[in-house]
Amino acid sequence: MPTDDRPVSVLDFASWKKQGRKISVLTAYDHPTAHWLDAAGIDCLLVGDSLGTAVQGRDTTLGVTLDQMVYHAEMVARAARRAFVVCDLPFLSYHASRPQAIRSAGRILKETAAAAVKLEGGVRAAATIRAVVDAQIPVMGHVGLTPQSVRRFGGFKVQRQADAIRADAQAVAEAGAFAVVLECVPAELAATITAESPIPTIGIGAGPACDGQVLVIHDMLGLLEGFRPRFARRYAEFGEALRDAASQYAADVRSGAFPAESESFR
Ligand code: KIV
Repeated sequence: MPTDDRPVSVLDFASWKKQGRKISVLTAYDHPTAHWLDAAGIDCLLVGDSLGTAVQGRDTTLGVTLDQMVYHAEMVARAARRAFVVCDLPFLSYHASRPQAIRSAGRILKETAAAAVKLEGGVRAAATIRAVVDAQIPVMGHVGLTPQSVRRFGGFKVQRQADAIRADAQAVAEAGAFAVVLECVPAELAATITAESPIPTIGIGAGPACDGQVLVIHDMLGLLEGFRPRFARRYAEFGEALRDAASQYAADVRSGAFPAESESFR
């Protein structure tokens, strides 16, 4: 649990990096989940466009829209008392031009209580990050495996081009981002980048040296069946618990055990 419940601000990320205090980040897409994660003291809630794969049942994040991100960010941010809320800019909501990126990021800050946006890309996205930051909107970067590039990468693959990824992380920091996600890069490379980076690195599948860690909540709660990334440690088996509770309910309805007299109005 956090020692103080003052709302986390963008400034805390910089001081936590200096102090070597690790940063906890989880994704959230709805109000009750965000409420409990906030109560648990999670530092940052990411309304990720993993919405597409975790919630919408898609194979990729490409179909997620800006309207959907706004809708989910609004619910999450309304629940967050202390946690810092970051919302992803989805595919093609910032790629066409810098004005488009500013307008998309602006919608997140104007229509929700989220405090920052996240967008994917390093060197190629640096000018966009700079433009959004210049519009006074905090940006979290994202390099390494950037899921919106899945078609160009030819799949969700660990990214190993060390020099390019280091240059990407550096470009994101120089463009004014306050933190950067390192996704699926070798642990040693993530450690080097973390040592070089003036802003906190938030790892997912990037080893223990990062300044913080992020997981997709559905992965860590065991809510998704099928492919299980090796880095996605399960802290609970909610999927099985849900199935068991629902099958008990169905059995009780069939047998007449639910509802009981005490659960009925007179
Ligand atoms: O969309 C998302 O949830 C993310 C995290 C996995 C970093 O980008």
